[in-house]
Amino acid sequence: MTSALPYANGHIHIGHLVEYIQTDIWVRFQKLRGQTCTYVCADDTHGTPIMIRARREGIAPEELIARMHAEHVRDFAAFEIAFDNYYTTHSPENRELAEGIYKALEAGGHITVREVEQAYCEHDRMWLPDRFLKGTCPKCRAADQYGDSCDACGATYRPTDLIDARCAVCGTAPVRKLSDHYFFKLGDFARELQEWVGGGHVHPSIANKLQEWFSEGLRDWDISRDGPYFGFLIPGAQDKYFYVWLDAPIGYMASFRNLCARTGQDFDAYWQADRADETELHHFLGKDITYFHALFWPAMLMGSGYRTPTQLAIHGFLTVDGQKMSKSRGTFIQARTFARHLPPQALRYYYASKLGPDPEDLDLSLEDFVNRINAELVGKLANLVSRAARMVLSKLDGRTCEPDPAAAGMIDAIRAAADEIAGHYESRNFALAVRRICALADEANRYLEQTQPWQTVKTDAELARQQLSAALEASRLLAVYLKPVVPGFVERTEACLAIEPLTWASLSESPSPRTLGEFQRLADRLDAKAVQALIDETREDQAADK
Ligand code: MSP
Ligand code: ZN
Repeated sequence: MTSALPYANGHIHIGHLVEYIQTDIWVRFQKLRGQTCTYVCADDTHGTPIMIRARREGIAPEELIARMHAEHVRDFAAFEIAFDNYYTTHSPENRELAEGIYKALEAGGHITVREVEQAYCEHDRMWLPDRFLKGTCPKCRAADQYGDSCDACGATYRPTDLIDARCAVCGTAPVRKLSDHYFFKLGDFARELQEWVGGGHVHPSIANKLQEWFSEGLRDWDISRDGPYFGFLIPGAQDKYFYVWLDAPIGYMASFRNLCARTGQDFDAYWQADRADETELHHFLGKDITYFHALFWPAMLMGSGYRTPTQLAIHGFLTVDGQKMSKSRGTFIQARTFARHLPPQALRYYYASKLGPDPEDLDLSLEDFVNRINAELVGKLANLVSRAARMVLSKLDGRTCEPDPAAAGMIDAIRAAADEIAGHYESRNFALAVRRICALADEANRYLEQTQPWQTVKTDAELARQQLSAALEASRLLAVYLKPVVPGFVERTEACLAIEPLTWASLSESPSPRTLGEFQRLADRLDAKAVQALIDETREDQAADK
């Protein structure tokens, strides 16, 4: 299992978190069900932006990526993203694997060399990628636009069409120079790729989109960049580096290989083409990087003796209150800022409640977020546990007993939903899973409202104990279902119920009477003021950055 590798030149924000939370929920679900499942990721460290940022800060790129790595690890931990390994693409494993794959492609005749004309800044002594050119848009004449597209009118164009082009770093007018570039002949794999894309490994809507690309014809892919560049040198070439997108997906393999060295897992069983039926390979990613994962990456694997992915799980983009995340509106929210103001598990719950299997955009409506967390996570799910546990602890010396026989129907109904909920998780329809879990919690809460153990306890303590024990058994079963989404919440529930860590198999057990552990808060109500403070601080951060 992988999530896309976040760039090392930016902080983790709530848009990224859609993906890492989605993957983490799926991984946790698989593990809960007893599957052997390994979740690897890494920082994507190479390329021009990293090199330039390090120069600007006056440090080596290695120092910059080490700092960002530590920050990313900390942010992911705060959101309970449980990687089995979080590595870096700037690693010996990745260098070796990238060289190996490249050499195999070359030996297969899939690499070709051609001259390319590109902008070069004589002042900074570097080649300028399109995003490092600025100038006037040839269509609408807006000033200060990038070399590939215009933010003002949306036009896309060739960098040579940009009027009055300048180096984005120093402002000098670039010169145009020729140099040799290495290309991967993607077209060599057209038939195999088309078969693969049609083979059910991607969502049908994505497969359709890809068919359009096939009919336009697959062009050779430029995989080299001239030095200076932060990356891996291409073996056998002079001062040429692998383009960052060549070694980035190989970073999935490298992270796994790095893990295998520690755990003794069998790398080849997961990656060799002739052993592909022994294991599965799932990549989670955003729709913006489909082309890389559905065409370049499988073709690289096909051409070098490795297996292709079982599934590309592609998600849409996050909007906040219906609009793109925006710096000026204060909705370009970093993970760490979020965690300072609001509980991370609330975001996990909210994203889960909105995520489906389709690559559609997903909206974080701030008002709906507060309301939903308060109504569902706090009002239905935490409340059920806390009402029952607190009363057992305060009025019935903490001891539970066999559940009230009259609650058997309610408890059986929760158990009976297991396959349905598992099916929703499996097909990445977390929204349906959450909706079903909430409906079951409603029934358990209704049971408490109807039996009124807080009244019963005054006249018949043992009956009240049975009723509360029934509510706690319902809580225990619901906690199994919730565990992939809010693992911390469930761990605190386990501590309170004094039970072993729950797995899917716990659904068929019924724990014997026991003494409850100390009560712990499971989820806090959200306050619209905290959300406003988060937005305000995000705006200030952006102003300071400028
Ligand atoms: N470094 C590349 C991926 C290399 S994978 C071999 C990259 N990095 S990224 O930091 O820009 O994005 C990482 C992941 O986060 C991508 O899958 C991307 O789609 C996802 N998201 C980034 N912003 C997002 C939103 N606003 N909304 C949802 N997902 C977003 O791409
Ligand atoms: Zn320059």
